[in-house]
Amino acid sequence: MTRTVYVNGEYLPEDQAMISIFDRGFLFADGVYEVTSVLDGKLIDFAGHAKRLQRSLDELEMANPVTEEELLEIHRELVRANNVTEGLIYLQVTRGAADRDFAYPDDATPTIVLFTQAKAGLADNPMAKTGMKVISIADERWGRRDIKTVQLLYPSMGKMAAKAAGAHDAWMVEDGVVTEGTSNNAYIVKGNTIITRHLGHEILHGITRAAVLRMAREAQMKVEERPFTMEEAKAADEAFVTSASTFVMPVVEIDGSPVGSGTPGKVAARLREIYLDEMRKAAV
Ligand code: PDD
Repeated sequence: MTRTVYVNGEYLPEDQAMISIFDRGFLFADGVYEVTSVLDGKLIDFAGHAKRLQRSLDELEMANPVTEEELLEIHRELVRANNVTEGLIYLQVTRGAADRDFAYPDDATPTIVLFTQAKAGLADNPMAKTGMKVISIADERWGRRDIKTVQLLYPSMGKMAAKAAGAHDAWMVEDGVVTEGTSNNAYIVKGNTIITRHLGHEILHGITRAAVLRMAREAQMKVEERPFTMEEAKAADEAFVTSASTFVMPVVEIDGSPVGSGTPGKVAARLREIYLDEMRKAAV
């Protein structure tokens, strides 16, 4: 099936969509992105993603080519045109095309691209029942991981290292503590306490993380936002990750050692249930 995609104001069949070879997203990774999930044909936490997009753009002094209302309309039109009931919408904004120069151009027009990825079984993911295996790797990314840029080569290398080790993903370690997963935020549970790294430049400020922590606190669960070591993680009762594409996903093995009983934990299962339930109700 040929998808309808959105490029700079136009809805086009995917094989007719084009951007310049001089686009700074292509030449310098000078671009930011968002991934928003779709359940029941509706957008999950669109407002959260729109807000973080604006923050990423502001941090890079990049213009936003659309208003939040226009962005919502584009998302909805792509869901409609591609008949997506469950899946993801990818959005990318770059500084646009300009003759190659490291300094930002004065007059470039930002490029905006959106496309859909239909994914049946996103909510009913069988991995939620079996859990993920992760390995640890050094965090060798740049220092502004709070900006959601399209520089994803190191996370790709991390996923490949995980695959080679027979695992699903990698948790990244810096100065002896876990920062986050290659494409998700990382958590452990010890006793009744959920522990996840505090916000800062070192990690992406996950939109799913914000919602899950809010819901955990509302459900009277104890939350500690602080760094944790791999040793703590291996000795934890439970572990899990969150992201727009996995929601809340249990981790059952870290570097070959089982976490807790080696099966998905109760806290992760409960949070996944609450998250999906509340977010479906609030979807737009
Ligand atoms: N990744 N940390 C990193 C490094 C990420 O790339 C992501 C998201 C997250 C979770 O953020 P959120 O809850 O807002 O999805 C944390 C997306 C899903 C991706 O690159 O496909």
